[in-house]
Amino acid sequence: MYTIIDGKKVSAERRLAIQNATKERLEKNLPAPGLAVIIVGEDPASQVYVRNKEKACLDAGFHSEVIRLPENTEEETLLSIIDRLNRDDAIDGILVQLPLPKHLKADTVIAHIDPNKDVDAFHTVNVGKIMLGEKGFAPCTPAGIMTLLEAYGIDPSGKECVVVGRSNIVGKPMAMLMLHKNATVTVTHSRTVDLPSVTRRADILIVAIGKAKFITPDMVKEGAVVIDVGMNRDENNKLCGDVDFEAVAPKTSFITPVPGGVGPMTITTLLENTLLSARKNSGQ
Ligand code: GUN
Repeated sequence: MYTIIDGKKVSAERRLAIQNATKERLEKNLPAPGLAVIIVGEDPASQVYVRNKEKACLDAGFHSEVIRLPENTEEETLLSIIDRLNRDDAIDGILVQLPLPKHLKADTVIAHIDPNKDVDAFHTVNVGKIMLGEKGFAPCTPAGIMTLLEAYGIDPSGKECVVVGRSNIVGKPMAMLMLHKNATVTVTHSRTVDLPSVTRRADILIVAIGKAKFITPDMVKEGAVVIDVGMNRDENNKLCGDVDFEAVAPKTSFITPVPGGVGPMTITTLLENTLLSARKNSGQ
């Protein structure tokens, strides 16, 4: 028997705590945490993500500002908007939705965000802190996964953890967080030779590659914990993860579904980071 890790339930509990903390701030005449989200262009998936972030902010009682810019926005315009938000006391967190249109360089744009407002934890200063295990903003999706593991009593210490995918947003920071919790970590990628032989070693398998149902039962050890970060459409246009859930689940001890697993946790960490920033900004 396996347990389905319920990300909706865990995130609902955490968001209630955030909502209560926000109410307490307002009762003390402190400002609501403020998050600004910038989206450039019309990427349909990004539009959905940004709407979800806006709704989550409003539900939590946060101040939310969404800045929608046309596809052909020039770098100078975007950087000057970030400058304004960096100076705005009502804004504790700034997030630029990725991917950006091709003519804009994500590195340049992210470097322009005040690291103290970089609630995505993408700025090199914050990436460095994650690497060193210093206090600061948590990388949203990896930290959400750590929260889920903790909620289900799964301790990574001494376990073999295999991360499939080496992105800056998920794979690399995920490996760091698992390392800080004393897991033995392997990061695999598109050039890994004989991937199934590596993934089969995993006590905890974390998959973030964006390929529908890529992980099949032959790639999973009996009793493994499987965490699926993927968000894809299958041949019937149904949402699915990077793991073939129906086939793999019976081999696992714990598994996250898609949707309703890791997804809701990402925005929850974002709200937690914004609240953390608001607390710092009001000297708490
Ligand atoms: N695009 C996909 N995931 C993310 C994320 O976590 N943050 C931002 N800013 N863009 C993304």
